Amino acid sequence: MCPRWTHLTFPIFKFKICSKLDITGLLAERRRSVLDTIAIFNQKGGVGKTTSVVNFAACLEKEFGKKVLVVDCDSQCNASSYLTTFTDTEEGAVRTDLGVEEYLKGNIPLSDVLNRVLIQFRRKIVESNIYVVRGTKKMDFIDDFDTDIFKRLVSEAEELGFDYVLFDCPANLTTPTLATLSAVRFVLIPVSYDIYSLSGYDMLIDNVQAIRRTTNINLQVLGIFFNNIRTDWNLDKYMYESNRDNLNGLAFKTYIRPSRTVPTAALFGIPYPYYRPRNPVANDYIELVNEIIKRIKKVKKGAK
Ligand SMILES: Nc1ncnc2c1ncn2[C@@H]1O[C@H](COP(=O)(O)OP(=O)(O)O)[C@@H](O)[C@H]1O
Ligand SMILES: [Mg+2]
Repeated sequence: MCPRWTHLTFPIFKFKICSKLDITGLLAERRRSVLDTIAIFNQKGGVGKTTSVVNFAACLEKEFGKKVLVVDCDSQCNASSYLTTFTDTEEGAVRTDLGVEEYLKGNIPLSDVLNRVLIQFRRKIVESNIYVVRGTKKMDFIDDFDTDIFKRLVSEAEELGFDYVLFDCPANLTTPTLATLSAVRFVLIPVSYDIYSLSGYDMLIDNVQAIRRTTNINLQVLGIFFNNIRTDWNLDKYMYESNRDNLNGLAFKTYIRPSRTVPTAALFGIPYPYYRPRNPVANDYIELVNEIIKRIKKVKKGAK
């Protein structure tokens, strides 16, 4: 079980553990999809990796009509907690106890470890087109798995008709991160006003090159985005402007502003585009996701 806010009591939270997800609906919608796979990674913690994964997933689903799978590779399991706050529909369970640990260990299909994400929107709990494979606290200690296993996960996700798989990585380069980078096409790097969030950048680029040479020739850094910054604050402005044009053209123009409502949305387990759809920060997320989609298209076109 992932750590939750068990010390808090919110009446809307349900903790019932249910039988496994009925994926008949998912399979019925099965179609040929062009899957994009993205790891959100920075060796610095607290820069907004998890928050971005959750909110990008929600934007892709809500604003762009996409079917998104989130894979939680971090032993802190924050993405899992965020996305499994609500666990039941009137028809039944949308949550399984199985997660990435069971997938890594054995020959079970992806469909066995999927949780359909339920979201509270306009006082109702609605089924979303976001699915999550829950993380495990033991993640950093599991290293006896096939490092190609996420390649299998990606091809199964394609089979199930997903449009995007987003991997929430921990702030380290342990085996789960390496397995992720071996399987994905793109890496997105969030950075914050904190200068240290860029300090591992060269090392990260070197690591990506090493993986390209060995296990994943298609791996590519798609871009760097600034999170939790406001350009009317001097330090943030300096950070943004001095790096925007200075990172091999990798920086995205759109940045995410800070807001107290971002952590509050996480506390309530509601992705930001659903929690505060009219807040300018929701618009930042949509703009940034739009820029990401356009860049993916451009990169793929260039690669043909
Ligand atoms: N734009 C933002 N405005 C305000 N707080 C943010 C923003 N983005 C992230 N945060 C907060 O920063 C903290 C760290 O974010 P998180 O996504 O957990 O980082 P990481 O996964 O890189 O460790 C969380 O409390 C999160 O709610
Ligand atoms: Mg995180």
